[in-house]
Amino acid sequence: MAWGEMHALVTGGAGFIGSHLSAQLLELGADVTVLDDCSAGDPAKVPNGANFIEGCIAEYATRSSALDGVDVVFHLAAIASVPLCEANPERSDLINRQASLDILLEAGCPVIFASSAAIYGNPVSIPINEGHPIGPLGHYGEQKAAVDDVIRSLGVGSNPATALRFFNVFGQGQDPSSQYSGVLSIFIDRAMGNRSLTIFGDGEQTRDFIHVSDVISALITCAESLLEQGTLSPAHGEAFNICTGLPVTLNQVVEIIDDCIEGELECHHEDERDGDIKYSSGDSSKLQEQFDWSPSISLSDGLLDLISDSNSPGA
Ligand code: NAD
Ligand code: UD1
Repeated sequence: MAWGEMHALVTGGAGFIGSHLSAQLLELGADVTVLDDCSAGDPAKVPNGANFIEGCIAEYATRSSALDGVDVVFHLAAIASVPLCEANPERSDLINRQASLDILLEAGCPVIFASSAAIYGNPVSIPINEGHPIGPLGHYGEQKAAVDDVIRSLGVGSNPATALRFFNVFGQGQDPSSQYSGVLSIFIDRAMGNRSLTIFGDGEQTRDFIHVSDVISALITCAESLLEQGTLSPAHGEAFNICTGLPVTLNQVVEIIDDCIEGELECHHEDERDGDIKYSSGDSSKLQEQFDWSPSISLSDGLLDLISDSNSPGA
């Protein structure tokens, strides 16, 4: 794939996953534009060499200028926190559903959408494959499901698009500073500072944690297929789970971190969060069979990397 001739738009490129993706695309030789309002992202995370537009995806003029001349869109901008969407359903509907549908309609080039495992809700069977019923528990999942659903209804006459249903993504650069951040970044940050961990509920909820580098390789693989084959791509009009198939409970996560830091972690429990899924465990064989993609970084290796990073001078 001649990425050197491509101009990619990464919405949400100042965020956790988007900043990793932008850096990888630049490394492949692409021109990269980042569109992000920095509501959760950080301009310092936008890699050098990317063109940065600070603005909101819900504004037509901002979208138009960001979409001008691009060959592919990675649409990652969203309010990514489940509890934040529960607290602000109108705002999250505007950003996560309406603006995403607008981008899909206005892009004029392949779009890869960051969908979510949250669209499945509490599973009726495990592991969850793409044929599992859609049954989101709250606003965040409903809004992601609405966009995912439109993508799956696209025919050959439409714009090439695919939905990647990320399970719980972790890795370097995930902001630990807010209660709305991903649980592993919060746990590592607190463990390294000798602070106690808060577990919402009994800690027996499961999550399928996938490393950010495996997510980036899935995003790029699907983009290449859409760019090369357009609506004839096996990714077009489809949704794919991005996960490991190896779920762990939060209590097990605490044990793994405890072993890694050889310390005694303190935990306390609070009420389960609204909209929280109890069990999450995915099956990614559809993407593995279609594109020969497979996850390469285990949870314990990824956690060890994060811990050694936060131990390094300057961290
Ligand atoms: P993140 O919060 O780090 O990144 C999202 C980015 O979108 C942020 O930089 C934020 O400032 C930006 N943004 C929010 N509203 C915006 C708006 N109105 N206009 C422009 N930019 C806006 O989250 P992330 O973990 O990198 O998630 C990226 C995408 O992947 C999101 O769509 C999220 O829903 C989805 N996703 C993430 C996970 C996960 O575990 N991290 C799992 C499933 C799906
Ligand atoms: C995460 C993503 C969401 C994505 C979904 C897909 C984030 C912030 N959210 O949601 O974008 O669509 O995966 O599966 O990345 N918890 C604690 N203590 C804490 C923080 C969290 O016990 O300090 C618990 C939560 O209640 C939840 C679990 O840990 O049960 C995971 O929470 P979180 O990391 O916020 O992710 P999800 O809600 O699964």
